Parts: sequence; C-alpha cells; structure tokens
Amino acid sequence: MCGIFGMTGVGAVAGTLKALKLLEYRGYDSAGIAARREGRIDICKTEGRVAKLEELVCSLKETDVAIGHTRWATHGAVCTANAHPFLSQNGKFAIVHNGIIENYLELKKKLGDDVHFTSQTDSETAAHLLERNYQGNVLDAVLHTARQLKGSFAIVITTVYDEKLYAIKSKSPLIAGISQKGACFCSDIRCVSHWATSVAVTPDNTVAELSSDGVRFFDFSGNPLSVPFFAPEKAEAYESVEGDFMLKEIREIPARLRIAKEGYVRSGGLHLSAEEARRLKRIYLIGCGTAYNSGLQVAAVARQWLNLDIFSVIASEFIYDNYIADGRSLFFFISQSGETADTVRAAERVTKSGGLTYAVTNTSESSLTFVCKRTTNIYAGAEYAVASTKAYNCQLQTLTLLLLDLGRMRGSVSDALYMEIFGGMNFLPEAIGDIIDNSRILINLAETIKDCSAVFYIGRTADYPTACEGSLKLKEISYLHSEAYPAGELKHGTLALMDPAVAVVAISTCDALRDKMASSITEVTSRGARVISVSPDVFTDATPVILPKIHPALAGIVSVVPLQLLAYYVAKALGRDVDKPRNLAKSVTVE
Ligand code: M6R
Repeated sequence: MCGIFGMTGVGAVAGTLKALKLLEYRGYDSAGIAARREGRIDICKTEGRVAKLEELVCSLKETDVAIGHTRWATHGAVCTANAHPFLSQNGKFAIVHNGIIENYLELKKKLGDDVHFTSQTDSETAAHLLERNYQGNVLDAVLHTARQLKGSFAIVITTVYDEKLYAIKSKSPLIAGISQKGACFCSDIRCVSHWATSVAVTPDNTVAELSSDGVRFFDFSGNPLSVPFFAPEKAEAYESVEGDFMLKEIREIPARLRIAKEGYVRSGGLHLSAEEARRLKRIYLIGCGTAYNSGLQVAAVARQWLNLDIFSVIASEFIYDNYIADGRSLFFFISQSGETADTVRAAERVTKSGGLTYAVTNTSESSLTFVCKRTTNIYAGAEYAVASTKAYNCQLQTLTLLLLDLGRMRGSVSDALYMEIFGGMNFLPEAIGDIIDNSRILINLAETIKDCSAVFYIGRTADYPTACEGSLKLKEISYLHSEAYPAGELKHGTLALMDPAVAVVAISTCDALRDKMASSITEVTSRGARVISVSPDVFTDATPVILPKIHPALAGIVSVVPLQLLAYYVAKALGRDVDKPRNLAKSVTVE
C-alpha cells in the first residue's frame, strides 16, 4: 500500500503528479511531493486525494528532481502532518516510504531527544537517520541507514547534496525505470511501463542510486549488484472513465474471459512435467480477499474430478501454520496485483521448503512472479477499482483450466469431460453479457437492500465461495454489515440474527442441492428476513434473480456477476465512493 515515486528529468514535479494519479489506487488518505532544487527541498502535501494535491502543487516551482507519495495509513492518523514526504531536521534529505519500519520506536530512541519528529509515522525515522548518518558521502549514509532498518520498506530519497535519487528496498516493491526523458523509481511496473523504455525490478535488500549515468545497485554492505533491465510490456494507457471504474470493469468481463482463454491456450497451459504431475499428493490455492475466494471456488469445483487433496488457504494464515510444503505439493498463489505482501511471503516460505510454486496473476512481472517458479497470467487487463471484479472471473476461468490440464495429465479427467468444460467456456461471455444488459432488477433490489441492518449471503459447496465473494463486495464498497455462510450452517447459531431488517441472498446453482436450499430459504423467511435467490430456479417467497443454465464447473464464473452488480448498485444508492472505498487500498503491500 502507498504509492511511491521519484524522478529525475525535465518537469519532475508534473511527472511526479502524473505518476501519483496512477498510483492512487495503492492508497488515497493523503498525498505529497518534494521538489529538489539547488540548495533546498520544498514540500507540498495534504490530507485527501491527489486531486487536492494538484490544486496546491502550483506552490512548488518546477524542477529536475522530485519525489512523491500517495498514502494508505498504517502508523499515525490520516492528516497532513502524517502525509509524506518527510524532511530530515536540517532539511537536507527528504524521503517517501512504502511499508512498515518495524523497529522505528527503537530507532527513534537512539536518535535521542534532540531530534524533533513532526509526525506520528514510522517513516519519518528514515529521514532523520539519513541526516545522522551523513558524513560527506550520501551513498554511505543511505547504506548505513538501510542496515539499521527492519521490516518491509521501499524508500525513495532526495537530497540537497547531489542531484541523484536513492532508494532502499526490502520486501516492498520497487521498480527502476529509464526513458529518453529521464529516470524514475516507482512502486508499480504498470505505472512506468507506458513511458520507460527499460525497467528493472529491484531485488530485496538492495540500495539503488539513480543518476544521469543510469542506475547502480548495491547490497546493504555496498557491494555492487548486477540487476537486469528489460523492455516492459506496455500496460494499457490509463484512461479516465465516465462513471466508475468498477462498473466499467464488470462490463469488460465477457471480453476479458475470451482474451483470457485464448491467452491461456497460447501460453501452453500447465507447465508441469508428467513426473511432477504423477507424484503430486496435494494442491494448495493461496491468496487474500477476492483472490482467496477464487481459490475456494475452484477447489470446490475441482474436487469433483481431481483425485487429490485440495486446500484453499488464506495467505496470512498459511504463513504461520504448518502445512506440508514438499516437492509433492503444488501451490497456486493467486494475486491480481502480484504484490500482496501476505501472498508473496507465503510463496517465499514454500519456495524455501521445496514446494512447486505457480503465480496466478494479472501482473506478469511482479514480486510474486519473481518468487514463484512458474507464472500463469489471468489476462484480466488493468483493474483500477479497489473492489476486484473482472480479475475474479478471470482467476476462476484460468484456475479451472490449470486444474483441468492437471486432471488430464493424471488421468482423472477424461477427454470428454475436458472438452465439455473447455467448450462450455465459450458460452460464458454471452451469458454474462445478458446479466449485465438486464441489470434493472438489480438496481431495484439495491434500493430495497440499502436500508437493511445486515445482508447475509448463503450457498452450499461451490456456491458458498460465491456467497463469500458477493458478501465481500457488498461490505467493502457499501459499508453494510454482511456475512457469508454455508446455507446448512445457519441453523447452528446465525438464525438468531434473522429479522425483518435483514436480507439474505441465496445462491443456488447445483440441481442436486436445490431442495436443501429451498429449506434454508424457508428457515429464514419464517423468521421475517427477506430473501433474494440467485439461481436458474425460482424459490417460494424469494425474489428471483434468474441465472442462465451453465456447466456446473463454470457456474461460479456467472453467478458472481449479479452479486458484483448488486454490491455496486447498493453502494451507489448509498452515495459511496465506489472506486475508492474508505480505509482500503487496491494493493496491500504490508503484512
Ligand atoms: O492483488 P491481490 O489479488 O493479491 O489482492 C488481494 C486482496 O487484497 C483483494 O482481492 C481485495 O480483497 C479486494 N479489494 C476485494 O475486492
């Protein structure tokens, strides 16, 4: 979380502001820019969005070196004083930071009472340390500071002592980019790929120095490192949209599923040797939030045709648990951004213990892809809304393809079943397009839901993960209280919460479980709750949202779409900022 940027080149302030607009999805509590000129560093920062910074930034004169930040608060309240950049006490260094300096209290103590802190953040410590460590050589001061910090950090530094930019990187992402117009450090490869001709992914525990001669990398002891530069894949140009990114991204689902299927086929499918596939004992699907839900969903589906144990695990839980991660365990690390710290840490753990690692991601050059042995792109295209939508649908389709391929290699999936499901994917775009075109019912339902005290989502087996995803979407953008439950579990406690102010969304796509869902619906309606059913079937006493009939292995890719739309329309009806919900950020790069 937090977007950091620093550039050298003509028009550095304007360039930094432009970059912050692209990085804003990483955090939008506050924003700021520091401009370095001969003998001084000027700072402009504010609580609030980059748009507010843009109104104020004209107070900064244009210059050739600038750094900028867009914040998602971890330490210290959301206010201008806690916004980055931070200056050292003598004003000679300025820093922006993404991550958490875990030993900042200890370092603050070491700095002593003479150092006056202007914020409650951990980050400011780095600026004061640089001043303390400077003895005539900036690089030495940066290296010394790097050795003192513990935690996760990408820090970009400007100083009055020279025109270079410096960076310290451990765990949090940092890209170096070079173009004809200048050079930069940035949190996100997508953000630089449309102007940089050459980029490098800064390795962990590295100090980087950016000057007119290019970028030099060092380990924390000062030994030079060789880091490869490459031409970046051009990211789609960031366009502003009329309306919200979330709705635009939902509308893109049909087209993106087509592209993703073609992309998967082009990539050659599952790159596992016959021997690796044969020896497998278990599969793990690991991610956070929506990415975790996609693993949960596909595990429920693939269990029907893979004779293997399949576990879906939340990345932050996996790290501290004791799952078997040997060479007979296949791990799919699922992450739209490829930068989620919990997922990357989990992948690092598995890499050390010899498990087979796959990144399933929308960002083919990311921290996750560098840790995992193999990568499969989900081809969802850039996703800007904090609420993930099209990435989820593409994750489901891609994971289904990967696990189908595995089933075929292991002989548990027949060619006929493979073709049924693979061919069935061709019907998804149209089925989803129809749901999107007929959103009127969802807009009306949103009006009835928006005043509910709570919204429960229920489903059984493969419909339960869909319930989880629908509930997550609703709570994160509408702020309504919402929970997802396996439908059969309600009677073990949660039924106590049912009353007329509660709404229940019942997802039912499995013929064999239809009658069971009918009973669950009666249980809640008889306690006064109102029910919306999302199903190809109609249920007594429930308002129906009718789904098209789809192959059961693919039903989740379709049934989630009305839930994504419902969440969107409820949030709109409540006047929420749909694309940038409170307290959240798109990319969560702290553990
Ligand atoms: O980039 P990732 O897929 O790793 O992100 C994981 C979660 O942070 C993310 O899916 C989050 O739950 C979304 N905001 C949900 O809409």
